[in-house]
Amino acid sequence: MSYTRTDYEQAVSIIREHSSLMPDVGLVLGSGLGTLADTLEDRIAIPYEAIPGWPVSTVHGHSGQLVIGKLEGQTVIAQQGRAHFYEGYTMQQVTFPIRVMHFLGVKTVILTNAAGGIDPSFSVGDLMLINDHINFPGLAGHTPLLGPNDETIGARFVGLAQAYDRDLRQLARSIATDDNIPLHEGVYVAVSGPAFETPAEIRMFRTMGANAVGMSTVHEVLVARHAGMRVMACSGITNVAIDAVDSDVETNHEEVLEAGKVIVPRLATILKGVLRGFSA
Ligand code: HPA
Repeated sequence: MSYTRTDYEQAVSIIREHSSLMPDVGLVLGSGLGTLADTLEDRIAIPYEAIPGWPVSTVHGHSGQLVIGKLEGQTVIAQQGRAHFYEGYTMQQVTFPIRVMHFLGVKTVILTNAAGGIDPSFSVGDLMLINDHINFPGLAGHTPLLGPNDETIGARFVGLAQAYDRDLRQLARSIATDDNIPLHEGVYVAVSGPAFETPAEIRMFRTMGANAVGMSTVHEVLVARHAGMRVMACSGITNVAIDAVDSDVETNHEEVLEAGKVIVPRLATILKGVLRGFSA
């Protein structure tokens, strides 16, 4: 399905009925990372079901609500959980929330996700600032920018050489250094899921230069960059991707959620520092 401007405007007007705050910054909180939105001041929450057109996640660990409030002096709109392509939604549906943020006036989006570590130097609980991506579903034609282009939102052809804002990354790095938080920086490879990768796929991704793997984020980056929004994205490494057959361990969703608890405080420190440090 594809949306029209009316669909975005309808969603915007429902959100405005709940809150008169004008958010500058959009936050997307991935698997197990949603509790960060509970720290917003003066917050109001809107269940996704209340917003027409909004895709609702069916996956445990992705509570679905939009939270609007203040964080470190910035007016923030946070997605507590997100819907995924593997749930059967189209790429247009899973990125509808980013478009709605654009129509709400959001200028900067900070995306977070749970990811498997491909880089052998990564451990569970580490953070990785994304500085580039490999879009496997996108290269195979699953991209939200397919179809007629609305020139009033953005250009037909979107450059991605500087998709992940250099200044925001620099800011995140300086906060991590000040607060002694280990922060890697690298390439996120997007897969459709929902099955985790085979060991052969993990070795292939490593050879290609990917440092972490996950099932979200990059299609949101495309839609955000299409609309000219600034993007920062950070992965929480929730598991170490398995790269050899006959291993005794198997990746599972429970470990992904469990690791979120270690990651949330570190991520919160970095995100708050970034919000303090930039003018939206
Ligand atoms: N693979 C894909 N997506 C993920 C993983 C993984 O290992 N961990 C968390 N999300």
